[in-house]
Amino acid sequence: MRRKVTKAIFPVAGMGTRFLPATKSVPKEIMTLVDRPLVQYAIDEARAAGIKEFIFVTSRGKNALEDYFDHAPVLEQELRKKGKDDLLEVLKQTYMDSGAIAYIRQHQALGLGHAVWCARRLIANEPFAVILPDDVIAAEKPCLQQMVEAYEETGGNMVAAMEVPPEMASSYGILDVSEDMGSLAKVKGMVEKPKKGEAPSNLAVIGRYILTPSVLKTLNHMKAGAGGEIQLTDAIANEIDSEAGVYGMRFRGQRFDCGSKAGFLQATVAFAMAREDLRDDLESFLREIVQVDKAAQ
Ligand code: G1P
Repeated sequence: MRRKVTKAIFPVAGMGTRFLPATKSVPKEIMTLVDRPLVQYAIDEARAAGIKEFIFVTSRGKNALEDYFDHAPVLEQELRKKGKDDLLEVLKQTYMDSGAIAYIRQHQALGLGHAVWCARRLIANEPFAVILPDDVIAAEKPCLQQMVEAYEETGGNMVAAMEVPPEMASSYGILDVSEDMGSLAKVKGMVEKPKKGEAPSNLAVIGRYILTPSVLKTLNHMKAGAGGEIQLTDAIANEIDSEAGVYGMRFRGQRFDCGSKAGFLQATVAFAMAREDLRDDLESFLREIVQVDKAAQ
């Protein structure tokens, strides 16, 4: 029996400079898609995949994140007094079992690989998941759950993967595939943010990973790579020739790059359109402004 994946690392130490001035005082992960912060989507996806321990790698200025997952006695008391049971119910998704959530500080912004490495003692010797909350994935079956199911068959290391336009390849980790089995692809090379024209394919790594603990050992002595940062991609690439190997999994679902303004707006519209209470109003508004825009051209 393969060991179950029950721990997930959420690297949330980034400063979110692309969203300044908002991120001057609000952590990016607390910014909302409709009425839920980005991080709630990540937590829900992890829970659906069977994750029981949630490890956040944070940095200065992220206190709002810790508060978000805490109980709020005054607010709860007020809601109870007013008989707002529906809102009390809404709050439940933000609660964590005692001891199920941990926060570790990344004291220096040395890269994603370094952020993951900061959680090494809490992972110890087990396979673990990594979720980048910036990558929001709308899917019938949550992306990490799809990966856990595939991992139960393959073992090894697995990254979520998606074809991107060639001109975008230099923004991602890119996979070089030795054997393409459709939804799963065996990986023979990985390059973080390849230079223009040097990408081995268009198959990009998206922010979901299931990794073996030996990736953490590699990170113990990993040198800085692309952009002068310690890259998770480089540490995973080191596993390619191991017995476990590395797989890319083309997930079923729509990914939004909520690290960019355009992606965040697209996700906002998509998630709002999926809501019965918002769809009709939003749709007629969108039709209206698109028509006005066309008429003005
Ligand atoms: C990170 C990873 C990269 C991956 C990307 C997916 O890059 O380093 O391999 O393709 O996430 O969103 P970042 O976007 O943090 O620069």
